[in-house]
Amino acid sequence: MLRIGILTSGGDCQALNATMRGVVKGLCNQVSDIEIYGFEKGYHGLIYGEHRMLTSKDFSGILMQGGTILGTSRQPFKQMREPDENGLNKVEAMKHTYHKLRLNCLVVLGGNGTQKTANLLSEEGLNIIALPKTIDNDIWGTDMTFGFQSAVDIATNVIDCIHTTAASHNRVFIVEIMGHKVGWLTLHAGIAAGADIILLPEIPYDLESVLEGIERRKQQGKDFTILAVAEGAISKEDAKLSKKELRKKQEQSSYPSVSYQLAKEIEERTGQEVRITIPGHTQRGGSPCPYDRVLSTRIGSKAAELILNKEYGYMVAVKNNEMVKVPLSEIAGKLKMVSPDAEIIREAKRIGISFGD
Ligand code: F6P
Repeated sequence: MLRIGILTSGGDCQALNATMRGVVKGLCNQVSDIEIYGFEKGYHGLIYGEHRMLTSKDFSGILMQGGTILGTSRQPFKQMREPDENGLNKVEAMKHTYHKLRLNCLVVLGGNGTQKTANLLSEEGLNIIALPKTIDNDIWGTDMTFGFQSAVDIATNVIDCIHTTAASHNRVFIVEIMGHKVGWLTLHAGIAAGADIILLPEIPYDLESVLEGIERRKQQGKDFTILAVAEGAISKEDAKLSKKELRKKQEQSSYPSVSYQLAKEIEERTGQEVRITIPGHTQRGGSPCPYDRVLSTRIGSKAAELILNKEYGYMVAVKNNEMVKVPLSEIAGKLKMVSPDAEIIREAKRIGISFGD
């Protein structure tokens, strides 16, 4: 008898169900004697013993279904070692649930925080397989995360739609794209949709340089400019502040986000009207794109192989289009960021895209 636990944790994305389906199909096609326990709302379900028994049928027909059939929640890694409001030791509670159900393995699907807790549980002696989910594509150790390409499609489509309206007006448009710490999504959607200026958290911007970019377009006879701005884009000035100083400044700011501040500054300096579009959580919604469906199926299938080989303590990763295993201890706590010197940045600059630096 094989007993598997599975949970989805952190922000959702389009291909969570597709990935779970890959894992379960990969297992059920090899073993008949299997019990699958789905934990509700991520680590919450593991901590509080909220789970339901699932069969392979539950994973049928969900390849193209966004969201997660298990629900998800954010359980900050930093607080995992702290007792809950009733004094419960969360780590011990998770171990208790795992052992009570006599699981052979727990499969966790999630982003960076989830991977850190997965590593913690692995160090505590549980058999863990982790799978790389996030629209941010910022998990260390993998070339690609599932959810990313689907979100790129949505963000690209938003900028495409802005293009047609922007071309009819003499305006500057800002599209704010998800990604607080890391700008992969903004970078890819920005390039895919032909944004003129791309601002990323990893490349602090100088307002003067952004204004120059807008002016350059005017001189080329182009009346409109489109900026793809990551949620976490930051000015050179703010990048010099300590974390604490920056947090204080942001708390005291009257702007809901960086885009609003930029819009005001651009309007004041150029006299051009600025419009802001924030697709927000639509970027995590809807069906996974075909690329993600294939990726999820491959990741899920690889996870099944590792489980059947009793190889635990790994995250399934993509390296040069191959599915590989990476030790959880190697990836926990690291972020895969956009390097300002990356080839893709140099290529984008070569064709005239400004990064405001
Ligand atoms: O981690 C994925 C992500 O979508 C980020 O890009 C975004 O900043 C954040 O989640 C939003 O999270 P929440 O769903 O908690 O608002």
